Amino acid sequence: MAFAIFLATAPGLEATLAGEVSALGFGPAEAVPGGVEITGGWPEVWRANLSVRGANRVLARIGEFRAMHLAQLDKRARKFDWGSVLRADVPVRVEATCRRSKIYHAGAASQRIARAITETLGTPEAVEGGEGAIRVMARIEDDLVSLSVDTSGAPLHRRGHKLATGKAPLRETLAALFLRQCGYDGTEPVLDPMCGSGTFPIEAAEIALGLAPGRDRRFAFEDLATFDASVWLAMRAGPAPRDTDLRFAGFDRDAGAVRMAADNAARAGVAECTAFACQPVSALARPGGAPGLVMVNPPYGARIGNRKLLFGLYGSLGEVLRREMRGWRVGLVTSDGGLAKATGLPFLPPGPPVAHGGLKVTLWRTDPL
Ligand SMILES: C[S@@+](CC[C@H](N)C(=O)[O-])C[C@H]1O[C@@H](n2cnc3c(N)ncnc32)[C@H](O)[C@@H]1O
Repeated sequence: MAFAIFLATAPGLEATLAGEVSALGFGPAEAVPGGVEITGGWPEVWRANLSVRGANRVLARIGEFRAMHLAQLDKRARKFDWGSVLRADVPVRVEATCRRSKIYHAGAASQRIARAITETLGTPEAVEGGEGAIRVMARIEDDLVSLSVDTSGAPLHRRGHKLATGKAPLRETLAALFLRQCGYDGTEPVLDPMCGSGTFPIEAAEIALGLAPGRDRRFAFEDLATFDASVWLAMRAGPAPRDTDLRFAGFDRDAGAVRMAADNAARAGVAECTAFACQPVSALARPGGAPGLVMVNPPYGARIGNRKLLFGLYGSLGEVLRREMRGWRVGLVTSDGGLAKATGLPFLPPGPPVAHGGLKVTLWRTDPL
């Protein structure tokens, strides 16, 4: 049975995610506000969670019906075949949203649906803040109730390797989409001169080795009635990782960050092709071998640092990159366009601002320096 599968991303990144999803062979991928829609069955849901690097979560559309008032919602929700998707022993949490509909009270709507599930299937309702509950989402728009289930659980940037983070870590999903926007396809080295917890080099190394981002974590779909453990285990085992001669380097002036990055890389199984060292940006020296991509996410905004000092830091970053990294492309992520310009680097027109940790960050790219 085929149904709509929605892969959520930050607004502004839908087209990039659609490119990744198509490249992974999921068939037509349509960029829609806030994500990408594909069509498929449960194996596609599992594969999307396992292999798509840029999605924040994967939702499966499990059904829809019209409801003009709460009593009708109640009745139709009770008729719905919940047992074909949910398990009677796994708690559920229902979240509803209402737009342009006669039913306008989201709280009452979610309560009716939750009661329908618990009373028809015997499924316990999740306790407040309870871990491990399945999230059912009801979107009521123009009196049409669309039911989806969150098949990911913990957001997909939690690959399960980055246990240690610095002050302002970049989400892996965002790092993957920024790498993609810089044209990175796993065939060139990547260097991050301010690597923090190592997100860019680790993500880039995984892409080069062909490691699936979700290989080491659990997903909510494992607790659904539709789960088939043997098919999933074969899918997760996947093809053996490729070899690579490429090197993925990260530097930071903070020794603690460098230790964290190395530990995260070891947990991700990419220690052999990554190298992390404690070094300030000013000491950056051109690595041997063919040029590749510099990815950098310097300190910015109110979160860390002081803007005046940051102008100096961005200025010296630009200077050292122009001097040492001729032939390399640069991708710089910052919330502050003034600071990006202070590098003096020949940036192409910037990408769209993307929400991240309460700020909007933008990717600034160059052609080969
Ligand atoms: C926004 S964080 C980078 C986060 C990183 N992308 C991650 O995902 O964890 C900026 C990093 O720049 C480092 N940094 C600041 N000034 C530096 C300098 N002069 N040389 C090298 N690293 C520096 C900080 O220690 C911090 O780890």
